[in-house]
Amino acid sequence: MRILGLETSCDDTSASVVEDGRLRSNVVSSQTALHAPYRGVVPELAARAHLDNLMPAVAKALKDAGRGKLDAVAYTRGPGLMGPLLIGKVAAQTLARLLDIPAVGVNHLEGHVLAAELEHRLRWPVMALVVSGGHTDLVLAKGPGSYRVLGRTRDDAAGEAYDKVARLFGLGYPGGPEIDARAAKGDAAAVAFPRPAMPGTWDFSFSGLKTSVLYHLKGRVPKGRELNDLCASFQEAVAETLVDKTVLAAKRFKAKDIVLGGGVAANSRLRALMKERGEAAGFAVRLPARVLCTDNAAMIAHAACRRLSAGGSPWTGPCDPSLPLRSWA
Ligand code: KG4
Ligand code: ZN
Repeated sequence: MRILGLETSCDDTSASVVEDGRLRSNVVSSQTALHAPYRGVVPELAARAHLDNLMPAVAKALKDAGRGKLDAVAYTRGPGLMGPLLIGKVAAQTLARLLDIPAVGVNHLEGHVLAAELEHRLRWPVMALVVSGGHTDLVLAKGPGSYRVLGRTRDDAAGEAYDKVARLFGLGYPGGPEIDARAAKGDAAAVAFPRPAMPGTWDFSFSGLKTSVLYHLKGRVPKGRELNDLCASFQEAVAETLVDKTVLAAKRFKAKDIVLGGGVAANSRLRALMKERGEAAGFAVRLPARVLCTDNAAMIAHAACRRLSAGGSPWTGPCDPSLPLRSWA
């Protein structure tokens, strides 16, 4: 089954062709520079940029993929920003109608959970950690289409914490990649920031960690070596918090594999520590390539492919900015 996927839920415009779990093309047109001056995604600007960028991305994705008849067009139905979601849906439905094939609405979180399948054969059940600018979700996946969200953040998402702390450090937006780069040159043991555990739940909380960075700085903007040490210490606290709870949940729910998804899954320390502690506990840790961690249409096309090949019906309900992750199998 060959599927064209479109992803426009936030600030990346992406189009991709996936055929039975194999990536044929993946085009991502980033809007980072457009939103950077505002230190966050401006929904109206994002929607306008998707409008400009989507069709060129589709044309390139189809060209890169080479010849072949499409079986469906998939798009992100939610969660995400309403304007950007609607643009993806209208484009997908128009293309699908012209080609006389189904349009399939996909949950963005399901895309992140299944993205690792584009490069690895997963053994179910899988414990998936989806960490992005908008999400910190711990999901038990019993198989494709069978999901239970065990926990999520009670306040800031992991990526949001990175972006807010980067601001306190005087760094640009988005903060994750800059903190990651500086942390590589710093000492992670320099400052003992708290590891918020939220005992008795599978939830996360990052606002306390952010506040403790604020108190540590006392209004100063760190520079040079101190800044690198603070980046490394903050990054270590986030990575340990995420890894320890994920590995604990994988043990408790008898998962076989652990997967990561979302923009923060591109973080070097989170990837290394998840591999180290997950494998020490006996799990296979499957890390998608960084381009398949951040928002991309390949994961959307793949999730649609999984659903349609299992005999599921195309799902075209309304776009929903806070669409919950539901099972379909
Ligand atoms: O999944 P994503 O591309 O977009 C959504 O939020 O849906 O994630 C963006 C988030 C931003 O908060 C960014 O700071 C963070 O992912 N991020 C990182 C890294 N690369 C991106 N955080 C930590 N380390 C990174 N290398
Ligand atoms: Zn995402």
